[in-house]
Amino acid sequence: MRQTVIAGNWKMNKTPSETRLLLNEFKELLKNSKSKIIICVPTISLKDACEIAKDTNINIGAQNVYFEERGAFTGETSPEMLDDIGVKYVIIGHSERRKFFGDTDDTVNKKVIKAIEHGITPIICCGETLSQREKGVAINWVRKQIKIAYKDVTKEQAVNTIIAYEPIWAIGTGKVATSEQAQEVCHTIRKCLAFLYDEETAEKISILYGGSVTKSSIGEIVSQADIDGGLVGGASLTSEFAEIVNIADN
Ligand code: 13P
Repeated sequence: MRQTVIAGNWKMNKTPSETRLLLNEFKELLKNSKSKIIICVPTISLKDACEIAKDTNINIGAQNVYFEERGAFTGETSPEMLDDIGVKYVIIGHSERRKFFGDTDDTVNKKVIKAIEHGITPIICCGETLSQREKGVAINWVRKQIKIAYKDVTKEQAVNTIIAYEPIWAIGTGKVATSEQAQEVCHTIRKCLAFLYDEETAEKISILYGGSVTKSSIGEIVSQADIDGGLVGGASLTSEFAEIVNIADN
C-alpha cells in the first residue's frame, strides 16, 4: 500500500520571515496527520525551514537543483548543498522551470540522477499543454517525458522517486482536471514505469496530481486508483493546506 503524499509547492512566495511563521503554524496543524507531508519552499528559506521542521512529520523540499557538483554556475544550487542542510526532496522539471528557465527532458534526467546520487528524492513533474490535450497527444507526450526522465535510473533507484502529473492548463487556472482525466494519465504513467522496470517497481512509485488542487477537489483525486496524493500550489500557502491533508488522510 502506497502512503498518501501531500506536497506543497510554494513557488516564489513567502519571505523567510513569512516562511517561519507559516511553517510553525503548519507544525501544529499537521502534527497528527497520516499522510507524508512535503513542503517545497524557496531556496533562501530552505535552511530555516529544515530547522523548524526537524523532529516533526513535515519534510522540506527544494524547488530545483543543478546537475553539476560545483563550479562556475552562477546562481545555481548543487545537490550536495541541499543535502548538507538536510533537504530530502526536490521538485524537478516543473512546467514553470521548463517554460521560463529552459529546463528540458534531458536536463530533467541529469538533475534526477544527481539528486538520487545525493540521497535526495526527486519529485519529477510532467504534463501536457492545453493544445496537446486538444490534439489528443497528451498521453504520448507524458509517456515520452517519463521515459527520458528515468533514462539510466536503476530499478532500485526508481522506487525512491515520486512523479507529479501536472497538466499545464490546470496550473494556477482554477481548472482542475476531472478525476477521470487525471486517473487516465496517472495510469498510463504507471504502465510506462512497468514497461521501463516491472509491475512491482511501478506499484511502489507514488504518483501525485497537481493543478488547482483545493480542499474541494482533493478527496476525489486521491480516491483514484493510480493517484497517491497531490502537489499543491496556491492552496499550500494558507491553512487550507492543513484541511487538504486532513481530507486526504481520511
Ligand atoms: P496550483 O495548485 O496553484 O494550480 O499549482 C500547481 C502546481 O504547479 C504545483 O506544483
